Parts: sequence; C-alpha cells; structure tokens
Amino acid sequence: MQDVFDIIHTTRAMRRLKPDPVPDDLVRKILEAGVAAANGGNYQRWRFLVIKDTAVKKAVQVWYKKAFDEVVGPRYANSPPPPGVSAEKYARQHHAVEHLTEHFHEAPVWIVACLDEGKNTPTRTSGASIYPAVQNMLLAARALGLGSTLTTRHLLYAKEAEAALGLPEGVHSYAILPIGWPMGKFGPVGRTKLEDVVFNERWGQPYA
Ligand SMILES: Cc1cc2nc3c(=O)[nH]c(=O)nc-3n(C[C@H](O)[C@H](O)[C@H](O)COP(=O)(O)O)c2cc1C
Repeated sequence: MQDVFDIIHTTRAMRRLKPDPVPDDLVRKILEAGVAAANGGNYQRWRFLVIKDTAVKKAVQVWYKKAFDEVVGPRYANSPPPPGVSAEKYARQHHAVEHLTEHFHEAPVWIVACLDEGKNTPTRTSGASIYPAVQNMLLAARALGLGSTLTTRHLLYAKEAEAALGLPEGVHSYAILPIGWPMGKFGPVGRTKLEDVVFNERWGQPYA
C-alpha cells in the first residue's frame, strides 16, 4: 500500500506520455476515485467524458495549440519563474508544456471533467464541485503509475473546443486530463516554503 502523503507530494504534471494504451479497468479505477470526491450538496452534477478517439482529440488539440501560440507561449517567454522555481526548471517546464501542446491528442485516453449546469449560469463556486474530483483522479492515476496533467487551456477557446467535444447545451467542461504511461519518472513537486503562504492567527503574522 502506497503512503497517501508520498502520492500527494509526487503528483506533478506529467506532460510527456507514451502512446501505449491504458487498460480500461485502470481508467475505471480513476473515474471511481473521481466520483468519490466532495461536491456541493452531493448533487453530483459532474459528468465525465472518456475519449480515446484520436479524431476528436485532434479537433480539440487544434484550439489548445492555438491558445498556446497566441497566449501561453508568449507568456512563458516573457515572465519570470514562479515562486520557488529556478530559471532552469522553468525553462524545462516551458519545453514540457510545448511538448504536451504538440502531442495533446496522442495521449491514449482523455478524461474531460464537466458539470451539467442546465440553465444555470456557472458561478465562482461551480468549479468547487468538480475540481475535488479532478484532483482525486490525478492522485489515483499517480497511484496506478499513470501520468496526467490538469489542463484548462482549451477554455481560451471554450466554445470551439466544446463543440469539438460534442458537449450538449448546459454542459460545461472544466478540465481535460490527458492520461498515459509517463516517459519520465515521478518526482517531488516544486513549491515555495509553507511560511511564504501561511499566516498565523492574523494576516501577515508569520506561521512558525
Ligand atoms: C487550473 C489549472 C490549469 C492548468 N492548465 C494547464 C494547461 O492547460 N496545460 C498544462 O500543461 N498545464 C496546466 N496546468 C498544470 C500547471 O501548470 C502545474 O500544475 C504547475 O505548473 C505545477 O507543476 P507541477 O505540478 O508539475 O509541480 C494547470 C493547472 C491548474 C491548477
């Protein structure tokens, strides 16, 4: 049995994936972890679209790449590394992001995490009822030795990408998880120190 804390601390974005198929029973395990998550009022308005069809994935990748070329690529090129990340590591991340962009559709299986919101307009809290499921699925994939990345960039072209996904009216996508066997090894996530982001009792007061 793997330690849950080891899983949490090594669940990082795995953007280089092998095209080898992922067994259906493992995909099912990941989905079962997803639907075990917290969600508002337990209404379970989440819906998950499992996609292996390369044609559909490619039709979405076109928009994912367009968003990279227009927005994300230039942002990477012109911004400093995030807190706790060296310039060298940031450059490596940029290359990995570019790799996933080019090969998005080649990940053997996608899970598209959606909410069926009917006539309701998505609000600030909508995501709170789907991202816990997304994180559970990322952790489950990691525990099974599978790599994935939480991606939302297709939302820069939400209308076009969701049409390519064939989502019905009232259903909105919140993340696409490309899943596959990782080319590289799982390693620890790189984050800033706890003390930089946690306050004690009063805002601004250091957490010892
Ligand atoms: C809301 C959200 C959206 C994200 N969208 C993308 C994406 O579209 N493409 C991508 O390659 N990574 C995406 N990521 C992954 C982050 O870039 C990644 O979690 C972060 O750089 C930390 O990397 P690490 O988990 O490998 O340490 C997203 C993460 C979050 C939480």
